Amino acid sequence: MIKLSDGRSLPLDMHKVKTVQRLPFPTVEQRLGAIREAGFNTFLLRTRDMFLDMLTDSGTNAQSDAQLAASMESDDAYAGSESFYKMADAVRDVFGCDYTLPAHQGRAAEHIIAKCLVKPGDVIPMNQHFTTTKAHFTLAGGTVEEICTDEAYNTDSSCLFKGNLDIEKLKKLIAKHGADKIPFIRMESTANLLGGQPFSMANLKEVRAIADQYDIPVIVDTSLVADNAYMIKRREPGYEQRTIAEIIKEIVSMADIIYMSGRKSTTSRGGLIATHKKEIHDLMAPLVPVYEGFLTYGGMSTREIESMAVGIREMTDEYCAGCAVDLIEYFVSRLAEKGIPVVKPAGGVGAHIDAMRFLPHLDHLQYPAGALAAAIFICSGVRGMERGTVSMDRDIDGTELVSELELVRLAVPRRAFTMSHIEYAVDRIAWLYEHREMIGGLAWDDEPKILRFFLGRLKPIAAGKAAANWDEELAQVFIRDFSLDM
Ligand code: F0G
Repeated sequence: MIKLSDGRSLPLDMHKVKTVQRLPFPTVEQRLGAIREAGFNTFLLRTRDMFLDMLTDSGTNAQSDAQLAASMESDDAYAGSESFYKMADAVRDVFGCDYTLPAHQGRAAEHIIAKCLVKPGDVIPMNQHFTTTKAHFTLAGGTVEEICTDEAYNTDSSCLFKGNLDIEKLKKLIAKHGADKIPFIRMESTANLLGGQPFSMANLKEVRAIADQYDIPVIVDTSLVADNAYMIKRREPGYEQRTIAEIIKEIVSMADIIYMSGRKSTTSRGGLIATHKKEIHDLMAPLVPVYEGFLTYGGMSTREIESMAVGIREMTDEYCAGCAVDLIEYFVSRLAEKGIPVVKPAGGVGAHIDAMRFLPHLDHLQYPAGALAAAIFICSGVRGMERGTVSMDRDIDGTELVSELELVRLAVPRRAFTMSHIEYAVDRIAWLYEHREMIGGLAWDDEPKILRFFLGRLKPIAAGKAAANWDEELAQVFIRDFSLDM
């Protein structure tokens, strides 16, 4: 962020564009057709049918010239590839971990951790689950316990660390289940499903102290660690003068194991598990060739390993660590200026719109966040992601698990979008907010049993003043206010 002469803050791009991709701009009628075809599930849209893909910041970040150059120097070998050793060196330098196990992405690391550490009947406390984390730990017979602070569910908050774990709840959980039922405590940096909210270093230190007291390991999911470190530097007293590299190292020093999706902070497409404990490495290493690939590639192409090695180092550059966070802060402040209910304070991953406050006439089981994501797509061609009840699977007995938060996430991939994209999205969402009563709910057409949000299909339903064909009526009003090809 840079201060302008009129006092405003500007997220200044510290890069220039070298390669571009031409984007399609489908008409509102084409967008309506596409979302219907996709069963009102933005995961099932094709990118040719959209303008801005804000589904995720995972694997969609612009890579640096140094990353691309490194990938061309990759050493293709099934075993012993030099590319892997470059990544392991980067892990040692940046995270301070001597042992690295490659995995093709974050959930593959979660799979191996679950297989090695989670037993039926185990309870795993965490600041917040991620969808794939919960799926793997539950499949292994464990129960995930989210023990974030109550403030984390307040979408209009001034709390700077809504990703903190509630220490009192942790103590109660340990007293209730006993430390031997808790294989580890998991901290997600930043808590994705809470709206990319960071934890503070002070909180992580408290978690570590409790873990030491009961001899429970700590696992930090470092998929978004650079973003969390940047927010610690900007927000936590005592860290203003510390470098991102120092903060990342301090976070990792508090963990027994880290794992990550390399698709986010490191702007590459891979994953890893790292530790400074040889016994943990030795426990997990045999599973890597079974599920991922040999120990020196783990399901990744050597080109990606090279670019991840560079990405791990580059994310310690304050600009790289903060480029998404700063643009998200701008995005959130522009949405808030228009009166749109958006998760505050701004965090990582993207801007998160509060669908319960945007659509107060819908209840959780009419899937407000899913409906809002579809409506945003119809009137803008911007693809966001439902992060609410649709993203929660039913309980084993079939009961719906209602999400505390109903969010539409508009992700901001690193260095991919510009200010004009953000301004366009803000404008169309503000128009939609004026017409929010026209948006109805959604109901299942086809509901998968596991991770239903990926492949499930839904249909529009009437709610409040909105008719059952609200999608079509919304498109008609849009054409009236704009034009056919906007
Ligand atoms: N942990 C966190 C915090 C994540 O955000 C993700 C993925 C994963 C683990 C799983 O990693 O996708 O490489 O297997 N988040 C993506 C998202 C999918 O869109 O937020 P993966």
